[in-house]
Amino acid sequence: MKRLVLLGSTGSVGRQTLEVVSDFPERFRLVALTAASNWKALAEQARRFRPRVVVILREDLYRSLREALPSEIEVLSGERALSEVAAHPEADLVVSAIVGLAGLTPTLSALSAGKTVALANKEALVTGGELVKATARRTRARLLPVDSEHSAIFQALKGHRRRAVARILLTASGGPFRKRPAESFPKITPEEALQHPRWRMGAKITVDSATLMNKGLEVIEAHFLFDFPYERIEVLIHPESIVHSLVEFRDGSLLAQLSLPDMRLPIAYALAYPERLPLPYPRLSLTEIGQLTFEPPDPQRFPCLSLAYEAGRRGGFWPVALNAANEVAVEAFLNRRLRFDQIPRLIEETLAHLSFSGKPGSLEEILEADRETRKMAQSLIKERICSR
Ligand SMILES: NC(=O)c1ccc[n+]([C@@H]2O[C@H](COP(=O)([O-])OP(=O)(O)OC[C@H]3O[C@@H](n4cnc5c(N)ncnc54)[C@H](OP(=O)(O)O)[C@@H]3O)[C@@H](O)[C@H]2O)c1
Repeated sequence: MKRLVLLGSTGSVGRQTLEVVSDFPERFRLVALTAASNWKALAEQARRFRPRVVVILREDLYRSLREALPSEIEVLSGERALSEVAAHPEADLVVSAIVGLAGLTPTLSALSAGKTVALANKEALVTGGELVKATARRTRARLLPVDSEHSAIFQALKGHRRRAVARILLTASGGPFRKRPAESFPKITPEEALQHPRWRMGAKITVDSATLMNKGLEVIEAHFLFDFPYERIEVLIHPESIVHSLVEFRDGSLLAQLSLPDMRLPIAYALAYPERLPLPYPRLSLTEIGQLTFEPPDPQRFPCLSLAYEAGRRGGFWPVALNAANEVAVEAFLNRRLRFDQIPRLIEETLAHLSFSGKPGSLEEILEADRETRKMAQSLIKERICSR
């Protein structure tokens, strides 16, 4: 029986993690569930899964949540409580499924306590890559990928020597605007951007998928997760989302992992690792699919991918800044304060206005760089630099 802490249980990854848990009640037990503001969904989950403790980020919602739950379930609130439950002494595995930079601090807390972390929150590795890895090394904590692409690479690398690997090929669906002409990008609405052709995900990652920033963040995530140089990580557009990524070896062989696009597979793989569960979900039929297609990404229409490669190669604080500017841009787009085509422009302009040197040595330095970047991005939105 594995005991789990699920950070971000009310989100898309969180809910799908609970589906896996409820399909294998003899294998998993929940110690803690957390959310930011959706206390009603959190209360419902807690009544069903009976964790020891639940945490709601917003302190003003504590009372509502407390009143909705029986007294044997402990209720906590606030940022510090999130980090405390991430290091819960009873947990064997922590699922990090909070969205954005907010996931970094609790992820570090789990790793500092030596917990195995099933990582969906890619922003933690993008912003805190070296710190996250150094913490895991220090405590011998294990980091298991949940992102379907990284899970595919993790599986394909198994049993192979690192020096046998030539390249990593990350696949991307291409998002809803793969074929849309660049001239119409300014007209793209949040509603259109939130219609992903293959995956049902939270709003932020869905917009990131539409701009290809999601793939850019995943390139940086792969760089840290697999200790691989950027020049040997490539992106391939694969609209069917069946091949979840590939590893090319020195001899020219390619190994890939294939399945229907269903996040419950990589989630279950991380939860049960190193075992594989007999999952009761729909299976891939290659004869039904018939054809798989691949094409190169278009850097002209989707500049976010190049921005991410550039920030990754520059290293230091630049991935932190890239992530912060992107979080501000996506939020502004969703609130109709920024057009879709202005997302990459805002990120580029923000980074051009900042100067960083050295590498982040601590969590506080990362959070400071994040704050500075957000301030710059917000002021550029206000100055309407991006509407030029
Ligand atoms: N969705 C996918 O299929 C998928 C696939 C691969 C990787 N990922 C990655 O997994 C992470 C989660 O994605 P998602 O799509 O599941 O996101 P989501 O649906 O937006 O859910 C985010 C979760 O985090 C909580 N949360 C939001 N802001 C928070 C904060 N400041 N502090 C603490 N908790 C906070 C939310 O609580 P409330 O519900 O109360 O707001 C919710 O439980 C992201 O990093 C994403 O890139 C997602």
